[in-house]
Amino acid sequence: MSKASMNKKTQNAPSDPSNVLGAAAAVWDDLRERLARIEARIHDGVPREKLAERADAYINTLFSLFPYVTAPLNGVVLEIGSGVGYIMEALTRALIARATPPASILGLDISHTMIERAKERLGARAPYRFLPYDGIDVPMPEASCDLILSVATLSFIPKPFAYNLLFEVKRVLKPGGFAVLQFLSFRHLPEQETHTPWREEIRRQITGEKAHWHHFYAREELEMVLRTGTGFPYVDIRELGGGYWACVHLAPAPLPIDFDPEGYLSLNEDVRAAGVDPAQHWQEYGYREGRRWR
Ligand SMILES: C[S@@+](CC[C@H](N)C(=O)[O-])C[C@H]1O[C@@H](n2cnc3c(N)ncnc32)[C@H](O)[C@@H]1O
Repeated sequence: MSKASMNKKTQNAPSDPSNVLGAAAAVWDDLRERLARIEARIHDGVPREKLAERADAYINTLFSLFPYVTAPLNGVVLEIGSGVGYIMEALTRALIARATPPASILGLDISHTMIERAKERLGARAPYRFLPYDGIDVPMPEASCDLILSVATLSFIPKPFAYNLLFEVKRVLKPGGFAVLQFLSFRHLPEQETHTPWREEIRRQITGEKAHWHHFYAREELEMVLRTGTGFPYVDIRELGGGYWACVHLAPAPLPIDFDPEGYLSLNEDVRAAGVDPAQHWQEYGYREGRRWR
């Protein structure tokens, strides 16, 4: 289907239950819902006073799984599914601590309610910006983002629309940028069974019930979809606590300024034995295997 006709099919209000994307999003979008109630509802039952801590934990996970992820000073950052903005704040704190504060960090969300409540919290403060969008086209120019993040969101989106967002991530990511995306794994199913059995999950989705819909992923699926289907040349998938975190990028990870080829070869005998260029090896494989040079 062309983008124009996709838009035609979903031109109703985002939470219009007559389309599957809107039906999935309806549970997030009730303009009568006040900030305090949203804060209590959408963050896995974490109490309000611990929401900053929860967000910091997500961002610490990002940088410990993918220590090679960087953003330039005054970069452009995007979160897809920003809710009321806690993750954006935590990411901004982390980037400031790394001496690379962003020039702007944009939160995109399909829910107008989330965008309104996020603005209530942070709207007037730079570098934060919030925009509602149609769930299909990311309103950013090609190759404009240095760092893209999506956590606790993609697994609520019906798969063809989530897959489409991966193309959008590829389109708006700068060649030297990174995108970090989190998904629920099928291994989460036993835990899900304790509150929403699989059969009930499927019934809700088929009948379009206003509820949280969950879409699970398998490693092979993610690998194939990201690498072959979407065309990301660099894909690094880690499994963690019932979920997958994927870091994707379009260009090799930049070589650290203190990289020492001789040190790398001494610490990585297999690389020396293979007779390959140490810098190239680090940029192709070593960066995600956590290989060292000192
Ligand atoms: C559990 S909240 C997570 C919010 C934030 N990422 C966090 O962890 O604090 C899920 C968010 O995804 C948003 N969402 C649902 N469907 C979406 C879609 N198709 N595109 C973008 N955001 C979507 C919801 O409106 C909601 O704000």
